[in-house]
Amino acid sequence: MSGSAEGVGRATGLSGVVGAAAPWFAAEALVFDRYWDSSSRSLDSDLGWLRRQAYKELVDGALARIASVDAGLDHASDPHVRQRLQDDLVEAAEELDHFGRFADAHEQLGGGRVEVSALRADGNWEANESLRRVRARHAETHPIVGRLAATFTEGGCSTLYAAGAARAGHGPEDDVIAAACSAVFADEIRHMRGALADVPAGWTESDWKLLASLVVEQCRARVDMRDEQFGHPLTRADRALIETGRIEPIAEVSTRFGLDADQGTATISA
Ligand SMILES: [Fe+2]
Ligand SMILES: [Fe+2]
Repeated sequence: MSGSAEGVGRATGLSGVVGAAAPWFAAEALVFDRYWDSSSRSLDSDLGWLRRQAYKELVDGALARIASVDAGLDHASDPHVRQRLQDDLVEAAEELDHFGRFADAHEQLGGGRVEVSALRADGNWEANESLRRVRARHAETHPIVGRLAATFTEGGCSTLYAAGAARAGHGPEDDVIAAACSAVFADEIRHMRGALADVPAGWTESDWKLLASLVVEQCRARVDMRDEQFGHPLTRADRALIETGRIEPIAEVSTRFGLDADQGTATISA
């Protein structure tokens, strides 16, 4: 954890938050690297993670936004609230499309059609529930910064979508996975960048540091969520690498947030 703790301590502005999160996004990406190369990877294990991803897109993506819109409708005569609800509805439609991409991939690989009622009943997994609890606690304790952190970490900087898209050309099954992931990547980058547009004007260094610390805690929970989703491909040595902050950050993280790779100051533009 020393690397992430240093990252949080240094955090000033957006680039500081990105710098604190980058090793954790790399850790999430390492889950996929290990999984593709794993001897325990099988058609069954692919169907398992695809079904779980379909669950995330449907429940954590589409349904969460629909619930938020439902809860906010009483205030829809306020133009600002109405705009937010409209934006949420657009994103809900996109998340429903993402659900369809992974559900279709599940079917194309021979796993059968994903039944939504069954998925909603048994599609969740323990570490995903833990991630939800972390985000809910942050939103309750720090209503503005906690929600910003959840948007900032949404999709884990699209590490799964990038890793899945890179499977193109590795065989017919991987081509199906690559097509689903490629279709989702750009939407999720945009959803994540939505956090930048929501940063209030006049934020102080302590606000940025708080955001960085919440982002790191959520990213950490995301790594466990992905590791369980993919059948625990991370080794003990990987865990040690991650915990000591010695993992190499992904070079593309800065540009995915709209920062130049070597940018040292915050730019708040989505
Ligand atoms: Fe999504
Ligand atoms: Fe999303």
